[in-house]
Amino acid sequence: MDTPASLADKTIGCIGCGNMGGAIIGGLAGMPGLRLFGYNRTPERLAPLVAKGVTAVPDIPGLVAACDIVIIGVKPYLVGGVIAEALPALKPETVLISIAAGVTLEDLREAVRGRCHVVRVMPNTPALVGAGIFGIQEDPELPEAVFRTVLDLFGLLGSTIVLPEKKFNAFMALVGCGPAYVFHFMDALAEAGVTMGFTRQEALDLVTRLVLGSAKLAALPGSHPAILREQVCSPAGVTIAAINHLDRTAVRGHLIDAVLAAYAKS
Ligand SMILES: NC(=O)c1ccc[n+]([C@@H]2O[C@H](COP(=O)([O-])OP(=O)(O)OC[C@H]3O[C@@H](n4cnc5c(N)ncnc54)[C@H](OP(=O)(O)O)[C@@H]3O)[C@@H](O)[C@H]2O)c1
Repeated sequence: MDTPASLADKTIGCIGCGNMGGAIIGGLAGMPGLRLFGYNRTPERLAPLVAKGVTAVPDIPGLVAACDIVIIGVKPYLVGGVIAEALPALKPETVLISIAAGVTLEDLREAVRGRCHVVRVMPNTPALVGAGIFGIQEDPELPEAVFRTVLDLFGLLGSTIVLPEKKFNAFMALVGCGPAYVFHFMDALAEAGVTMGFTRQEALDLVTRLVLGSAKLAALPGSHPAILREQVCSPAGVTIAAINHLDRTAVRGHLIDAVLAAYAKS
């Protein structure tokens, strides 16, 4: 993929390169024309990113000074402290992006004290393979060119959606947390495969291909999961017996409640 013009001369850094920050900066690594930087509390964690061409920086002010776009990838309760450390190095044109659950745009504005642009983004881990979904909170105060740059940046790692604040937590509960639901479901299916005699590797491989293929079918224009499911369930067949069991044990209701539990906590 070509680097969008808006990012051509930009330096991009991440403070806190763990699961999510690492997935973002690691996903961007190797894309032509991007200059990437990383700082992590435990520097050893940066090694795989450095191997991909990311420049390790020894501290927060150093990273902020080097970068036009700064992604904060630490846990939510650490965001305030990281911004306080970054404050002296912030420039008016710096774009500070938080991916932290529960840290609002208002929190970010207060923390930077008007010294730079702030953006709230909710990612998910498939960013690592270019298939992330990024919710970006709409913000009429942000200059259009800055918003375009942010859309272009995350567009390199998957797809983007602009969200009003009132939908942000719902997006987080459904999509930010979503990969965990899918992996949990896949792990359970693989467990069934092992129970029936497949090796764990065979079962995981089969389930992964199953999910990839089913997602491709569901993504066809006009597809609907309920109709696709009906097409697999022959009258008096084996699949409808399994679906009956899922319905009797309220798996559908439990899935809905699981997402609502995440939403209630967000
Ligand atoms: N994981 C997801 O699927 C997901 C999805 C959406 C949003 N998020 C958001 O992403 C953020 C990170 O979550 P995560 O799951 O990626 O956590 P994580 O794996 O624990 O990563 C956080 C990283 O921040 C580093 N760190 C902590 N304090 C630091 C500091 N002062 N300066 C620099 N680095 C520091 C940690 O370093 P150490 O190596 O020393 O621990 C760790 O590598 C959270 O705010 C979360 O809400 C995560």
